[in-house]
Amino acid sequence: MSARTILFLPGDGIGPEVMEEVRRVIGWYARRQLPLEVEEDLVGGAAYDRYGTPLTEATLEKAKTIGTVMFGAVGGPKYDSLPFEVKPERGLLRLRKELGLFANLRPAMVFPALADASSLKRELVEGLDIMILRELTGGVYFGEPRGIERLPDGQERAVDTQVYTTGEIERIARVAFELARARKNKVTSVEKANVMHTGVLWRRVVQTVHDREFPDVTLEHMYADNCAMQLVRKPKQFDVIVTDNLFGDLLSDCAAMLTGSLGMLPSASLGAPGPDGRRKALYEPVHGSAPDIAGQGIANPLACILSFAMLLRWSLALPAEADRLEKAVARVLEQGYRTADIMQPGCTRVSTAEMGSRVLDALDATI
Ligand code: IPM
Ligand code: MG
Repeated sequence: MSARTILFLPGDGIGPEVMEEVRRVIGWYARRQLPLEVEEDLVGGAAYDRYGTPLTEATLEKAKTIGTVMFGAVGGPKYDSLPFEVKPERGLLRLRKELGLFANLRPAMVFPALADASSLKRELVEGLDIMILRELTGGVYFGEPRGIERLPDGQERAVDTQVYTTGEIERIARVAFELARARKNKVTSVEKANVMHTGVLWRRVVQTVHDREFPDVTLEHMYADNCAMQLVRKPKQFDVIVTDNLFGDLLSDCAAMLTGSLGMLPSASLGAPGPDGRRKALYEPVHGSAPDIAGQGIANPLACILSFAMLLRWSLALPAEADRLEKAVARVLEQGYRTADIMQPGCTRVSTAEMGSRVLDALDATI
């Protein structure tokens, strides 16, 4: 298997539509001496429809072997009443867990051209560039015991378990400090140590890793509720936010909205480096399958294209190409092209495919 193979899992809803534009970007690179091989498979509702499961063993094996996954989105109202274990989302959660993708990088940055699209005042978000680092394979998402049981008195009782070990906290803390060193050198560690034991351990372990290995990085601790408030009050105070699986899920959606549109935000989920130094990784736009606009050709492909830029950076070690692609996206926005979700007065409204074409044009202009 060549190191430059990517597994495409477009999934459901707008997933296949936005992934198609990434395919075109890959075609652009192929014409410029950077051939990437793409394999494709089903995931989520699409896999359920065909095989009765949101992720087959064969697809999982393929993902493990290839090691680099571009993921679209999963889910849709059609699948809402399915049993928990075969819901489309389980396909994604299983991939994260089985590939060991514990570090979820969710950058929230405001493109200058979109500063007015934020729900906050321009001066609060202009130049915003924060990185939410979410722990992705532990916590309440996977903790045991979990389930719903029937009590003798006829009631039901539901349990989820929030659980973290020292090792899980240490490895995510290290990623946070390393990220910060390449940015503004500040980490905010977020938990609820005032009410949760996992929060107490989280705070203590992050502090220990800091003091022992990263004393040069500024570290602060913050309660999760306060962090949610600070994100909308004064978001530019943050550089890297490191937090657990559930708080990370909530805070990253909140941070996403600061940037004006969920349709703009990429993410990378990384595993630990293997013996050959390579990390398994999955790249996906933060937006979901958006069933309400699926099939209309109006979805914003930029989050997915920016996720591919993260792939260039993290899986292919091509930071200059990642920069090139990110700049192309910024340029298209400066030129006033907008999909429906980020449309502003005086701009040109474009379809998914037209946005893809404009990105290719902007890439051409960088040569
Ligand atoms: C996300 C999503 C997922 C999550 C869902 C689709 C399972 O909300 O990636 O943020 O909760 O992790
Ligand atoms: Mg979420």
